[in-house]
This record gives sequence, structure tokens and C-alpha cells, in this order.
Amino acid sequence: MSDAKLQTVLSALPPVTRQLDALPSNGPAPDGNFVKLNTNENPFPLPPIIMQSAVAALKCQYLYPDDDNISLREAASSTYGVSRDQVIAGNGSSELLGLIYRAFLAPGDKVAMMSPGFSFNRKLAMIQGAEFLEIGCQAHSLPMEQLLSGPAKDAKFIMLANPNNPTGTFLPISDIERLVAQSDRLVVLDEAYVDFAPDHGLRLINRYPNVLILRSFSKSYAAAGIRVGFGFGHPEIIGRLRNIQNVFNMNVIGHAVGISVLAHRGAYAENHKHIKDERERVTVALSQLGFSVTPSRANFLLARVPAGQDGSWWQAALERQKILVAFFPDKGLEHCIRVSIGAKEQMDAFLAAAGDIAGSLTVPSSKGREASGSASSLR
Ligand SMILES: Cc1ncc(COP(=O)(O)O)c(C=O)c1O
Repeated sequence: MSDAKLQTVLSALPPVTRQLDALPSNGPAPDGNFVKLNTNENPFPLPPIIMQSAVAALKCQYLYPDDDNISLREAASSTYGVSRDQVIAGNGSSELLGLIYRAFLAPGDKVAMMSPGFSFNRKLAMIQGAEFLEIGCQAHSLPMEQLLSGPAKDAKFIMLANPNNPTGTFLPISDIERLVAQSDRLVVLDEAYVDFAPDHGLRLINRYPNVLILRSFSKSYAAAGIRVGFGFGHPEIIGRLRNIQNVFNMNVIGHAVGISVLAHRGAYAENHKHIKDERERVTVALSQLGFSVTPSRANFLLARVPAGQDGSWWQAALERQKILVAFFPDKGLEHCIRVSIGAKEQMDAFLAAAGDIAGSLTVPSSKGREASGSASSLR
């Protein structure tokens, strides 16, 4: 297509689409030599009984999956003690986030999110042409005033993750219940990391029509590549989301694994204990290296790097040692990295690399070596 014709085609697209950049292809996928601690996956294999159900599902490869995810929704309804009309199943919870933004926001509408929060929400709001209000939230309390009578009062819905990403902090469910009770807006409570936390908010859905809870099997049930997520809420809200969902949004393996996980959640007890134990061990070890770590109730840590360099410098330095961690350029997070909690060997490799880098920054300058403080020029 000629450049002129491409420009004509692009200029005919809606303004929001024109604002989006065409994504460049990502570089080559990191090879198996990388220790991947940047997207909060759970690195362990599926328990054997769940793996068997995944393999068995391959025999149904010629069939479309269940219409409306009915068998998976029924399994979730009996496991979690809700009616099946209160459940929607998604190709990961990110599919459900996308449906919520599409269903409940028109161009010019407002949506509010606790900040810092899961940045994918910002993009979803932008695609809808909505105004995205980021409401600063202290680690241990909700800004009730701002949510109930400030600019967020007119938001179509309020989004909060508990435990929160990227901080890992956890708010008591009683605080969230106070917000849900006092607000006349929909409150979307994203519980992607809740299985690593001390409590959850599912009980709220039978008390309030204005709460919608999201769950993911990517983090606590080691199924990120299989894509299973759920939404729980009032049938009037859930039914509207199901109404705009793509047909056959999940596949037969996702259904089989989802149903099997629901039947065998106990098979993950050791997995979850490992992650919580490692979370504490790595918190202490990082603190000894000069990091300041936010106490986490999720499967990752937000760590403020030692004085001298910023988070992106550390991310790059770790990557050179084949360790991948996340960095966010957002205000307030420039001096942090986010590190997923993986297997013990992965965390040992991360701590060894972090120790190495921290050590190299404090060793006095010598021939061929940069002194502390000048290392950021390496970026
Ligand atoms: C807070 C939060 N919500 C939702 C998701 C999406 O998870 P998935 O689509 O894998 O279920 C993530 C993924 O990182 C997340 O951090």
C-alpha cells in the first residue's frame, strides 16, 4: 500500500485508534537461560492430577468448547458457593477487564483506579476514550473522601486490586466493604493475587449488588499459559458482561484445567507455602543488600533500590546477568523494581546477581572500574 493511501486509511479511523501507536514486534523471546521474574507467573508444574486432565482434554480438540463456559461456571459456582448466574469465566482475568471497560464506559466517561495500580487498566480506559483518574492510595488505607465526594464520585466504576499490583500491599476487606456500602458506583475488586493473602472479598457479592470480583488462575494455580479467570458479582452485572463476550472465548484445555483446579485446590498447599516462605526470605535478604522492600501479600516484591541508581538501571544491570525483573517509569516508582517470587534456585540466582551488582557499586573506584554514583551513566 502506498504511503499516501495508508495515511488516508489511518485518517479515516476513529480518533482513539489514531492515538494508538502501531506496536513494534518484540525482540526475540528470552531463552531458557533467563530467570524470569518480571510477570508474576508461578514457575511450578501443574499437580499431576490436573496435568492429566489437560492432556485428556486434547482428545476433544475437534469440538468447540462448551457454550458460555457452562461446565466451568457450574464448577466455580459450586466451589465458591455462588449461583452460576453470578459467575463469568474468561480467557484469563485480563479478558474480563477488557469486557468491563467495553461494557461500562463510553467516550468521555470517567473511571477511577487506586494508584499505583495495574497499568493495563490505563490502556483499557484510553481505548474507550474515557478519562482515567488515578487516586493516590496509602498502603494501608483507602482514600474514602476522595472516592465518595472527590473527582471520583462521578466515575462509572472504581477499580482496585487487593493485593495490589505493583505494591503487593493488602487492605482489610472491612475497609473495602465500607467503600462498597457507601458508594453508589460499581467497585471492581481485582483479586488476581488473593490466594497469597490472609483474606478475600467474595462474601461481599451476596451482600452488595455493586461489587464485581475478579480472580485469576495465572498466579496461584500456575496456569498463566492456559488462560483461566473468573468474575463474580450480581447476575445483572455478570449477565451484561456475558452478553458481549466473544463466543468460544476459552478452549477445551482451559475448561478442563479450570474444572480440575477447582476440584483439587488443596494440591497447591505446598506451592503456596513455598511462595510465602520465599517471599519472607527474599524480603530479608534484599533488605540486607540495602533495598527497602514493601511488605507483600502477593507473589512478588516491590523493592526500592539502594541509593545511587534508579530502578531502570537496576533492571538493566540484572538483565545483563540474565535475570528479568519489572520496572515502571510511573511517578513514585522510578526507584523501584518489582521481583516475582519463583522457585528457590531462581531466587538464589536473583539474590546472587543483586549482591554482585550492589557489591560492585560500593567497591572503591579502581582501574577499569566505575566508582559508586557514576554507574548510572552505563544506562
Ligand atoms: C492485578 C492484575 N489483574 C489481572 C491480571 C491479569 O491476569 P490474567 O489475565 O493472567 O488472569 C494481572 C496480571 O499480571 C494483574 O497483575
